[in-house]
Amino acid sequence: MSFQEELEKRRTFGIVSHPDAGKTTLTEKLLLFGGAIQVAGAVKSNKIKKHATSDFMEIERQRGISVATSVMAFEYRGKKINILDTPGHKDFAEDTFRTLTAVDSAIVVIDVAKGVETQTEALVKVCKMRKTPMIVFINKMDREGKDGFDLLDEVESKLGLKVVPLSWPIGMGQRFQGVYNLYKKQLVIFRPHSKQDNKEEVVVIDDLANAELETIVGTEAAAELRDEVNMIEEVYPPLSEEEYLNGNISPVFFGSAINNFGVKEMLDCFVEIAPFPLPRETEERIVEPDEDKFTGFIFKIHANMDPKHRDRIAFLRICSGIFQRNTNYLHVRQDKKIKFSNPTAFMASKKSVVDEAYPGDIVGLYDSGNFKIGDALTTGEKLHFKGIPSFSPEQFRYVDNADPLKSKQLAKGLNQLMEEGVAQMFVKEVNNRRVIGTVGALQFEVIQYRLKNEYGASCSYEPINLHKACWVSCEDNAALKEFMTKRKRDLAKDIDGQLVFLAESAWTLKMAQENHPEVSFHFTSEF
Ligand code: G4P
Repeated sequence: MSFQEELEKRRTFGIVSHPDAGKTTLTEKLLLFGGAIQVAGAVKSNKIKKHATSDFMEIERQRGISVATSVMAFEYRGKKINILDTPGHKDFAEDTFRTLTAVDSAIVVIDVAKGVETQTEALVKVCKMRKTPMIVFINKMDREGKDGFDLLDEVESKLGLKVVPLSWPIGMGQRFQGVYNLYKKQLVIFRPHSKQDNKEEVVVIDDLANAELETIVGTEAAAELRDEVNMIEEVYPPLSEEEYLNGNISPVFFGSAINNFGVKEMLDCFVEIAPFPLPRETEERIVEPDEDKFTGFIFKIHANMDPKHRDRIAFLRICSGIFQRNTNYLHVRQDKKIKFSNPTAFMASKKSVVDEAYPGDIVGLYDSGNFKIGDALTTGEKLHFKGIPSFSPEQFRYVDNADPLKSKQLAKGLNQLMEEGVAQMFVKEVNNRRVIGTVGALQFEVIQYRLKNEYGASCSYEPINLHKACWVSCEDNAALKEFMTKRKRDLAKDIDGQLVFLAESAWTLKMAQENHPEVSFHFTSEF
């Protein structure tokens, strides 16, 4: 197969949803279609159960699972599909944001009863920022939920997505009879409690006026479907693939993941319209996937579960060219060449060493501490990939050494955990104290636990009253100097040495912005 064919064969995407909407279930059904797994239940949920929010042993267990499910690849209808797993728990939202930098499209799962939830909103916002094409799957149609049109309105108003329904439900809950596939003009019939397997009962109905519809779904449901489809055709535009690929419109499918119903319709459409590997932006230039020289970036780092080995797995997204085993590549940040003897690919639950990988593929690299998130690997060109920022954290604590004999271990452990992206660390200018900033409270426990277990270091926390951390920039040197002198007390550096303003309250931030108009305050590290 030629390079171009390999490239066009790949579909790399992530599933985003609020916890419990059905992401794990849907992932599993997709893998079943691809023959990547044989039995249901093979994909372990990587979500942290609600009752276990403060149980870090549970987090450790989940961490083990999530290495295995970080990437799940399978073949379907001649395409190689890479699903990138995204943690559902909100305290790990930043992990999910970063994973979304490595996808080319996304599937958004929404629970028909709950509609658009907060976590979905946050994740879709990130996808929109990057113009990632999205397909929406409205799940749990076997349960009573919101009216289809109301849901579409909600998706449009809350997520700001323009929608095009491509399948339409016939009833819901007890009365759910199936979906009409508007894309293929087929009626797909739902038989509750039948296992559905990979085979759905499909009737081709090109014309909804056909009396066969009554025979199958009954007079009332047939009339309702006709009315609703008429309305859809009046209100919503037909699917324009171009608009979808530009991230301007999102096709919507209805179904029930647990019953493996409506999933195939979506998957078939997905393989037809979802983009193959897209270009990636770097500070220097745009990298096109079909360039012959290899480039890629690290979007996720996973510490080894075995405390005796400090090895980590760095996940590399290939952006252009062919990645080859045992070949020297430039680690741009460290300006040194490295090669990899055991790059790992993931095929559902199987891991294997790969000799070659193509754009869109994800390769796991064993790393002894060389990488941090956002790092670029190339055949020689000095490129810096964009769009992998750190976000302003929301919770802060001072972190102190609790064992004077282990200060080196603590420093090393903290540094490595920050490189992995577990949290962010800022060192205050006035007293050199370290402040940890996280998205959720869970990370503080994770850090303490992992420092002890992996580095033999102990830390203690002290509360610090902070509202936000903002990265600061200023073109005018004199104005920057004045700002730095006046606000010295509130300044810190992040681990890359960038200047950060630690605002005690929304008011302090507002005052700083008003008093120093030449200074720009940024809420992500990339500006
Ligand atoms: P998540 O990864 O998005 O967090 O969701 P997950 O797939 O774990 O699904 C959350 C719950 O919703 C699970 O039930 C799952 O069985 C159920 N579910 C998923 N799809 C459907 C569907 O189409 N219809 C219905 N009725 N339920 C669905 P649970 O009781 O929380 O867990 P479990 O004990 O079944 O694993």
